[in-house]
Amino acid sequence: MSTLALLPQYQTRINNFLEQKLDALAVNDEKLLAAMRYGLLIGGKRMRPYLAYMVGETLNTSAADIDGIAAALECIHAYSLLHDDLPAMDDDDLRRGQPTCHKAFDEATAILAGDSLQTLAFDILANHSFSDKVLSKRIELIRHLVNASGYQGMCGGQALDLAATDKSISLAQLEKLHSLKTGALLSASVLMAAECAVNITEHDKKSLAHYANLMGLAYQVQDDIIDITSTEEELGKPAGSDLAANKSTYPALLGLQGAQQKADDLYQQALQALATLPYNTDNLADFATFIVKRRS
Ligand code: IPE
Ligand code: IPE
Ligand code: MG
Ligand code: MG
Ligand code: MG
Repeated sequence: MSTLALLPQYQTRINNFLEQKLDALAVNDEKLLAAMRYGLLIGGKRMRPYLAYMVGETLNTSAADIDGIAAALECIHAYSLLHDDLPAMDDDDLRRGQPTCHKAFDEATAILAGDSLQTLAFDILANHSFSDKVLSKRIELIRHLVNASGYQGMCGGQALDLAATDKSISLAQLEKLHSLKTGALLSASVLMAAECAVNITEHDKKSLAHYANLMGLAYQVQDDIIDITSTEEELGKPAGSDLAANKSTYPALLGLQGAQQKADDLYQQALQALATLPYNTDNLADFATFIVKRRS
């Protein structure tokens, strides 16, 4: 298993930042706030924040600017998981090694905690103390997150996922579904961090966006693979959940080997995209390796 040397340090950084954001909220409803803490702070690999920080490192931007972006991304991601696990969606009981939010609290609280985390994401982006160079990009950053998380992104993909359950769909449809439900937010992690770099050329932005799309899709292909190859203990979420729910996944459509081949193809293409960039892209290449090798 490949490791990411900088991951622990950035996990600590984003965890502390997120904790401060929740600590700063007034306690209007103790149960709702506890459910938000539960969904946001307990566990999670922090891949989207990490990717944003790594793009920041690559392009030499300020980590303090990336804090606001990384936190907003993780709030959206945490909200998407709270809702994804609900009985109306995947109906799962375990997440990040703990009972899912609606099991630990109740369904209404899990829905509201998800809603509140979504709003918190935009609160953070709207109010973060960006450096002078990035301040003028605030609306653009919000636009990226809107596109990645809403109808045109994650929510749209989740709807396609539900519609494709118990059905066979084409590879092109599956690719679209995966690119929206998971790829969009991972892509946004790259694109939003790249907005903080002032001197980046359009060509380099395009190469980064290409890397981002490939990584976003690869992330969900690997998620489908580990659903059947890892144990519940490794995953911290139920193993075999997609199979049990008759979901449209890459292994379901292409077989396990075909899915692994797809992940590898995406990985190779991602490395090629990085090779066109005039920066030291080792951290982004390591991230790509980690994504297709991960078992959880
Ligand atoms: C799981 O995401 C759901 C997908 C979008 C594939 P992660 O694998 O990033 O889950 P956490 O945040 O580490 O729990
Ligand atoms: C999740 O896809 C995508 C989201 C937007 C949350 P999955 O349903 O495959 O994620 P897991 O396997 O439950 O984490
Ligand atoms: Mg799902
Ligand atoms: Mg799920
Ligand atoms: Mg899954």
